[in-house]
Amino acid sequence: MGTESLPKGIISTSSNMEMHPLWGPVSENNKSHHPTGLLAIAVGIDQKGLVNQIVKKFLENDFVVMLFHYDGVVEKWNDLGWSDRVIHVSVVNQTKWWFAKRFLHPDIVDGYEYIFLWDEDLKLDNFHPGRYLSIVKEEALEISQPALDPGKSEVHHPITVRRQRSRCHRRYYKFKGGGRCDENSTAPPCVGWVELMAPVFSRAAWRCVWHLIQNDLIHAWGLDRQLGYCAQGDRTVKVGVVDEEYIVHLGLPTLGGFLDRSKEGDMYKFDNRSAVRLRSYIEMGIFRDRWNKAVNEDECWVDPFNK
Ligand SMILES: *[C@@H]1O[C@H](CO)[C@@H](O)[C@H](O)[C@H]1NC(C)=O
Ligand SMILES: *[C@@H]1O[C@H](CO)[C@@H](O)[C@H](O)[C@H]1NC(C)=O
Ligand SMILES: *[C@@H]1O[C@H](CO)[C@@H](O)[C@H](O)[C@H]1NC(C)=O
Ligand SMILES: *[C@@H]1O[C@H](CO)[C@@H](O)[C@H](O)[C@H]1NC(C)=O
Repeated sequence: MGTESLPKGIISTSSNMEMHPLWGPVSENNKSHHPTGLLAIAVGIDQKGLVNQIVKKFLENDFVVMLFHYDGVVEKWNDLGWSDRVIHVSVVNQTKWWFAKRFLHPDIVDGYEYIFLWDEDLKLDNFHPGRYLSIVKEEALEISQPALDPGKSEVHHPITVRRQRSRCHRRYYKFKGGGRCDENSTAPPCVGWVELMAPVFSRAAWRCVWHLIQNDLIHAWGLDRQLGYCAQGDRTVKVGVVDEEYIVHLGLPTLGGFLDRSKEGDMYKFDNRSAVRLRSYIEMGIFRDRWNKAVNEDECWVDPFNK
């Protein structure tokens, strides 16, 4: 470990994202104050209005907020009242997975019960972070997302669509055509699936997901297929979509949303879409090959979901 020369009691294995005053009362000693959640969101200045709405809502609910600036623009956020209360990290042209791998090591964020790793093109008119978390806790969801308002959202996977008069759901049904899903289905995309624009991870699930993220991949697609392995148990039970607190996914051409196929042909500022898309297809194969290689080489590994 390299720490043998230190007396045990002085060793501090974790940290958090909280800010401390340089003088005055020592806030660390204030045991009554423990934010339960961290919101980490990849942002560009073009989405300032949307991000302002999102961040305000989370700060009001006592979250710690971290902004990953992928366009290098930081100062233009300073006029927002909350700007000094959030953590700004700026690295050009990186995706939220890159930021998360680099800056959200599980030991660093161990102080938070839940990690929200979100894109910026979301509208939260019908979403309250505190109520969301109370549902997630009662339902014991380790990996979750708010449902998408289908009328207004860019929807990629039907399991994420909001259901009326439902609190949350874990399963999606499809009785016609290929890829059927019924009450006996045990694998994604029928169960154990959330999309990656607004995932919420428990502390334990995040510890697992962080290890799954490959530093060199942009992870546009494909990661969601394996997420169920981080569900800390049965993925048909511990992964779910919360209907009562729901959001709109706008599917804007942001770095986070760079895969939205419907936006083909739009003008893009941050990257060459066709090149990124090509890279994403290639990466899916790379990730799948790495997974298969790891499975083959690890003689002790047993697929928990293989009946
Ligand atoms: C401790 O935290 C609580 C809850 O946020 C706050 O109301 C209180 O003012 C804090 N006390 C000190 C001494 O900072
Ligand atoms: C699900 O499994 C049960 C028990 O094996 C069976 O009776 C039922 O018909 C199955 N449902 C479907 C839709 O296949
Ligand atoms: C970021 O991407 C833009 C658009 O592709 C490009 O013009 C710029 O040079 C890139 N910046 C860096 C630092 O790679
Ligand atoms: C975008 O990427 C494609 C595929 O790699 C390439 O053919 C094209 O020249 C690139 N366009 C620009 C503007 O860089």
